[in-house]
Amino acid sequence: MRAHTIAGTLLPLLTFAISLVGAYHAPPPAPAAAPVPTLHQHRIPRDFRDTCAWVNATVIDDLHLGGALDASLATSLDLCICLSFLPELLTADVELVTLGGLLGIDNLELELTAVVNNAPGGGQCTYPQNAQAVCNQNDVCAWDCEAPYTRDGDECVCAAPMTSCNGKCGLYPKGCGSSVPQKKKRGAHSQMHKRGSVARAH
Ligand SMILES: *[C@@H]1O[C@H](CO)[C@@H](O)[C@H](O)[C@H]1NC(C)=O
Repeated sequence: MRAHTIAGTLLPLLTFAISLVGAYHAPPPAPAAAPVPTLHQHRIPRDFRDTCAWVNATVIDDLHLGGALDASLATSLDLCICLSFLPELLTADVELVTLGGLLGIDNLELELTAVVNNAPGGGQCTYPQNAQAVCNQNDVCAWDCEAPYTRDGDECVCAAPMTSCNGKCGLYPKGCGSSVPQKKKRGAHSQMHKRGSVARAH
């Protein structure tokens, strides 16, 4: 269910973070347009695949997909869209909200989905656990590790001196606690390295 409102549109694009649960975000009173290229940050809870593309009038025009969304309407679009957060974008991005008002939000979602799926620069992106997507015009699949995780190759790891305790990366000077098994119990994803010893008896 969407909050179809223009109120959510003033978020500065550069710091724009979208929650996966799609909760409505109250906009901070922020004016400035973001410098190019627009960067959308997006939290990723686990190993995750997504389809992302940079979308602007040129891309839409080149695709010749037909439909109501044409390049003349899309002149001010210039953003990364990943299919997983398109619904949230449709209620939060100022240009998309405006277009949704013109074309109908459902039509717009359908057409943008087709654009993303067919965009030449688009990609199937895979993200490791504890990463956040930082899609940009040069690399639509770019990602960073969410602090305190740090990047090690294609993984986000809990690097020393931090350790992972009960699935949470942090500093545990007194160890992780005897009640907690030191073996991975849940989220059998192998992506999460545990570096260093869990028990640092102080
Ligand atoms: C639109 O995006 C594409 C893909 O990133 C890029 O090649 C093109 O130059 C962009 N067009 C404009 C007008 O910025």
